[in-house]
Amino acid sequence: MSIPAAKRDELIAAAQAALKHAYAPYSKFQVGAAILLADGKVFTGCNVENASYGLTVCAERNAIFTAIGASTVQPQGKIKLVAVAVATVPTVAASPCGACRQVIAEFGREAVIYYQGENGIKEQMIRELLPDGFILAE
Ligand code: THU
Repeated sequence: MSIPAAKRDELIAAAQAALKHAYAPYSKFQVGAAILLADGKVFTGCNVENASYGLTVCAERNAIFTAIGASTVQPQGKIKLVAVAVATVPTVAASPCGACRQVIAEFGREAVIYYQGENGIKEQMIRELLPDGFILAE
């Protein structure tokens, strides 16, 4: 599914707005994510850190979990993710972490990801960022 440029820009702007909510007193690295679902809905999330560092949850996963919490799709939780935008402050090259890639793939095998690269915004498919990701055999 191809995303119009205006929609992509809207999603990136939503990610930039979301990072203002970040709770990142330890890393001082604020992250915002905005996700676009197949039904057109947009959800956002920010990173939430903890004094016990390992409990931190990334912005991307918070956005996805929020969408699932709001979803009435049946079977429960089967949302379809078509795009994910990630923004950070400071603005440095930052692609989604491995854990978030696995969670994105769970809900959007064909999702496109927008994130800050070395030379501006990069656009990559999740299957490029996570080739051969884990799937539980049914
Ligand atoms: N972080 C995210 O929110 N998303 C990622 O994909 C990578 C890292 C957060 C976690 C932590 O709060 C901060 O960035 C520094 O690692």
